[in-house]
Amino acid sequence: MIAPSILAADFARLADEAAAVTGEPGRGADWLHVDVMDAHFVPNLTLGLPVVESLRKATGVPLDCHLMIEDPDRWAVGYAEAGAHNVTVHVEAARDPVALAKDLRAAGARAGLSIKPGTPLDPHLETLRHYDTLLVMSVEPGFGGQSFMPEVLDKVRAVRRMVDTGHLRLLVEIDGGINADTIEAAAEAGVDCFVAGSAVYGADDPARAVQALREQVVAASAHRGWSA
Ligand code: DX5
Ligand code: ZN
Repeated sequence: MIAPSILAADFARLADEAAAVTGEPGRGADWLHVDVMDAHFVPNLTLGLPVVESLRKATGVPLDCHLMIEDPDRWAVGYAEAGAHNVTVHVEAARDPVALAKDLRAAGARAGLSIKPGTPLDPHLETLRHYDTLLVMSVEPGFGGQSFMPEVLDKVRAVRRMVDTGHLRLLVEIDGGINADTIEAAAEAGVDCFVAGSAVYGADDPARAVQALREQVVAASAHRGWSA
């Protein structure tokens, strides 16, 4: 799955920018990744609930809301109620991530948990049993256009093994610095869903960029290291 990040889009034309990656079924964006930043959890400020509510009406592509905010226990459910398909909170910010996952699901969304590059996976494995997606950050959250950190792929491989052996049931997402040079390594490590901001919206033809990334994933998945 490919999830273009609208952080790299033109915020004055969000409906058009969503349409630019929609494409025909099976060819366009699978999800639209929406980065919510509060200038506290990360040193950047983007958009919030009113924009997500409008975007929900403007596109049929499922919204993948990535909340880089403090106190997600208080704010995250609103995004599920606004119709987001997947709502991801940071494990570093959530006070009671298990209760939060239950609330998100009860509000009709999938529950996602994100971990920053320096956050280890092991202390959160029990918590992950309550989640539908794990978003592995491959840059420090806050800004688009940063360089991919290949060392986070160890966490992807570890969680991939747990999913493949039935110890966890979730979808593995990666976010940050994904482009034509890095996506194959991520695919080989076992990622299911690839967030890409500048690689999609920085391209002359965003829809073609989505399709090109998907073709790389398909080719790389044919010799995924974890399936050996
Ligand atoms: C960074 C955001 C990412 C960002 C990725 O904090 O979470 O979703 O949009 O942008 P690129 O693909 O340009 O690294
Ligand atoms: Zn993101």
